Amino acid sequence: MAESKPTYYITTPIYYPSGRLHIGNSYTTIACDAEARFKRAMGFDVFFLTGTDEHGLKIEQKAEALSTTPQAYVDDMAAQIKKLWQTLEISNDQFIRTTDDYHEEAVAEIFDRLLKQGDIYLGEYEGWYSVSDEEYFTESQLAEVYKDENGKVTGGKAPSGHEVQLVKEQSYFFKMSKYADWLLQYYREHPTFIQPESRMNEMVKNFIEPGLEDLAVSRTTFNWGVPVKSDPKHVVYVWIDALSNYITALGYGSNNQTNFDKYWPADVHMVGKEIVRFHTIYWPIILHALGLPLPKQVFGHGWLLMKNGKMSKSKGNVIYPETLVERYGLDAVRYYLLKAMPYGNDGIFTPEDFVDRVNYDLANDLGNLLNRTVSMVNKYDDGIVPELNSGITDFDNELEATSNEVVTNFKSLMNELHFSDALSEVWKLVAASNKYIDQTEPWVLARDEAKKEQLDSVMAHLVASLRVIAELVSPVMTHAPKEIFAQLGIHDEIDLTNLAFTDLQSGIKVAEKGQPIFPRLDTEEEVAFIKEQMTKSDKAKGRAAMKEAAENNFDPNETELASDKKEVRFDAFEKIELKVAQVKSVQKVEGADKLLQFRLDAGDDGDRQILSGIAQWYPDFNKLVGKKVIIVANLKPRKMKGEVSQGMLLSVEHDNGDVELVIVPEHLPNGSTLE
Ligand code: ME8
Ligand code: MG
Repeated sequence: MAESKPTYYITTPIYYPSGRLHIGNSYTTIACDAEARFKRAMGFDVFFLTGTDEHGLKIEQKAEALSTTPQAYVDDMAAQIKKLWQTLEISNDQFIRTTDDYHEEAVAEIFDRLLKQGDIYLGEYEGWYSVSDEEYFTESQLAEVYKDENGKVTGGKAPSGHEVQLVKEQSYFFKMSKYADWLLQYYREHPTFIQPESRMNEMVKNFIEPGLEDLAVSRTTFNWGVPVKSDPKHVVYVWIDALSNYITALGYGSNNQTNFDKYWPADVHMVGKEIVRFHTIYWPIILHALGLPLPKQVFGHGWLLMKNGKMSKSKGNVIYPETLVERYGLDAVRYYLLKAMPYGNDGIFTPEDFVDRVNYDLANDLGNLLNRTVSMVNKYDDGIVPELNSGITDFDNELEATSNEVVTNFKSLMNELHFSDALSEVWKLVAASNKYIDQTEPWVLARDEAKKEQLDSVMAHLVASLRVIAELVSPVMTHAPKEIFAQLGIHDEIDLTNLAFTDLQSGIKVAEKGQPIFPRLDTEEEVAFIKEQMTKSDKAKGRAAMKEAAENNFDPNETELASDKKEVRFDAFEKIELKVAQVKSVQKVEGADKLLQFRLDAGDDGDRQILSGIAQWYPDFNKLVGKKVIIVANLKPRKMKGEVSQGMLLSVEHDNGDVELVIVPEHLPNGSTLE
């Protein structure tokens, strides 16, 4: 009879191949990989999917900028991403690309079906269109607007300076609103659908209760996408295309649906918190409209942050996984990432913390435990591991009890995707084993012939404990378990289903000499190394120009940076943080003709106040409200006319001396960093 294992289907987001992937994307993929490996070791038939999200305007533009075709561009990027996952030993069962034929065909079918059954309708999308930019702008995104006598906007200029005109364009819309009540009901009946739980509330309060808007699901302004079957001047807009990957990868919509029948619904879609909304509102509605069951769970993890916020090249804080793997080994990187990200919250990467974790958790606690054990078994028992069952003391029983508890807790934590806590649990057993050596004092027992049985028992218990530890870390670390087994002379297959402390093979022989599995790092040297790697990030050319603009607006008497005049050293510029901020209000400052006082949303907790000496060029300063500008975010706050200014607005000076603020498109998120 064919054996029938329970199935487990886990997915990562499909990543945009618009730039090199960093340790943030690697976190999600490693977390899924650890879960996939865990479930396999627990006897599940696992299907683990990852891939790339290759359509859309951004890719089209990126390719154009590089004078290549979108297809050639994504081919190259997808190959790089696959290579990264190989380096990280990701055990995915499939890698889907949204440009794969089977996916494109299925997406066209899905769209067509939703259209025919009336969930998608043709509507109108209205906005200010710049022909030269081939892009829509909302009124507040325009750099300049023209008005008639009644104040009605009649035209204007795009941020690029090109004229815009009011254009209505056809677009297909998905009737999300029709399904809002059904979705709320679904949430109520499936309280664990969104994890961590707090994110479900966010969805309800912020998006569903205020009223779900119908979603524009096609575009005619770019071509790089899946054409709508019945109306091919439209391409399917990215989210329907992207989300569908989770079912098309299994053959949905093709003539071979074996995997779909076997693995759908997914057990978990693992995503970063910023795309929980797409996965818990739009995706469930699309699936429901298709008559398909929903994934059992969407897990929204936090972000891996750097000390100074999100990773970005301009902050010089990007770190690439390859760099760390090459120098410290894969296990250290996989261990660190899963350990550093607390359940459901954001985690912070610092070079100091990374080096500490390698030194303390890996080299000291685990590495030394193995070393001491191997050398003691050699010394006291000629390398042959004694049997587990004679000379038992309370200490021995306690260690076994700790191990049993750790195994149970570890499994339930891993089942709930609590990676960091699951690792802490294993390290309880590591700590208990080290403590056990101190308590039992084998070197004392060795001096007394009468204590030989006890001494043997200690050796056997240490090996048994290390065996359990090696098995438990195997979903996370892909090398250490093998090395531990090799040094202990164990030939087991990893199998977590019936992992028991007492299942130690008898008569095994440890290696003659232990090898450190995690070399100790020189803290100062390695922290310096990682920091240097972080600031090595390549620099966009445009930033030099931006810096010039910044300098033009500096008041030499009030800034420290001005002393360097025209040329700034690279490292000085690297320290400057440029951010997108939206103007919330503007007013004049009493007793200062030149100054305008801005309140801005720069993505920080509260508003920012910035004073800028540009009043003479903006008599109509209220028009700036809603506009997005660029600020120097980490300028030392300074006082002007009794008011604090927390940063500086970037502007350009025209030939005639007029100053104009740099206005950026509205869709750039507040607080995003320029790179
Ligand atoms: O959003 N910390 O792709 P994307 C933790 N194509 N995780 C991070 C991270 C960080 N600092 N940075 C990125 C997309 N991630 C869409 C998805 S799915 C149908 C379509 C991870 O390339 C995290 O999982 O922007 C996040 O959700 C994902 O990368 C975003 O990848
Ligand atoms: Mg993103």
